[in-house]
Amino acid sequence: MRKIGILTRDCAGVNAAIRSVVRTASSYDMEVIGFMRGYDGLIDGDFISLNRRSVSGIINKGGTILKTARSKRFYNEEGQEQAIRTLHENNVEGLIVIGGNGSLTGAHILATKFNFPVVGIPATIDNDINGVDLSLGADTAVNVALDALDKIRDTATSLERIFIVEVMGRKCGYIATRLALAGGCEEIIVPEMDLNIDKMCEEIQNGNRKGKVSWIVIVAEVKAKAQDIANIVTEKTGLETRVAVLGHIQRGGRPTSADRIIAARLGNYAVEALRNGQTDICVNIKENDLLTITLEDAIQPKEIHVEGFYKLIKLLT
Ligand code: F6P
Repeated sequence: MRKIGILTRDCAGVNAAIRSVVRTASSYDMEVIGFMRGYDGLIDGDFISLNRRSVSGIINKGGTILKTARSKRFYNEEGQEQAIRTLHENNVEGLIVIGGNGSLTGAHILATKFNFPVVGIPATIDNDINGVDLSLGADTAVNVALDALDKIRDTATSLERIFIVEVMGRKCGYIATRLALAGGCEEIIVPEMDLNIDKMCEEIQNGNRKGKVSWIVIVAEVKAKAQDIANIVTEKTGLETRVAVLGHIQRGGRPTSADRIIAARLGNYAVEALRNGQTDICVNIKENDLLTITLEDAIQPKEIHVEGFYKLIKLLT
């Protein structure tokens, strides 16, 4: 294989993965091009050349140097055919797609419908890729949220207040659950568990009678809006609440060492997989070993169990 392309979504660690792909490929004298703005760049033939030097100094940078976008055009046949034309016209022989569920679904289409060699690297703060324990970007997202939460806690404790903190995570409660345990929070509201708001308010009131005055509740964006929860808590308990919506800060920031290491390993392994003729797969790390799973499996809904974490959160508060 002489020439490959890269296409990305954004989250911390993606630039480190681009670096790893480019430098591994160049060690085999392979040419690498990076498609701009995800699948839109693939459709429009918008790309840049990447070499060892052009990926210098990006290992510690959040986001993606290739920019990204949600491509509506790639959903239809015409967009997909144009994307394939771009690859063939530019003599690209393999593609590495770095991203979450949507990006990997696109990769699966290119591999199955058009028989084009594609390898995926799981990268999303939501950590919702089936069969993948830890996606690139998820560790940094929890750490960024934790940094913000620690600051909120200073105010919550000083003012003796209840805070409802809303976090991202698409359809899953990964960030919320990890953040609550790492941040010593009192409660989580996540899609994997039924919400019993009356019970939660009772606990807050009981605690308040015994002198517990500050609470932090973490809400996953898909399950409820923080402001709605805050309104109910104030109405039912008579206690003052404040809201913080962490938003997109969770998707940015300097990648943690864990994410940089995942990026280095998976970027390298993705190039090796392409060279070995593998396609329609996603590279993965399980129990510290590098392995692959099929893209078909990776894009299925991930079952997430939070009960063990929830028990611990409640036990330790
Ligand atoms: O998938 C990553 C994610 O940040 C989700 O956690 C969130 O729901 C969504 O993307 C936000 O998307 P956008 O940046 O398009 O608003």
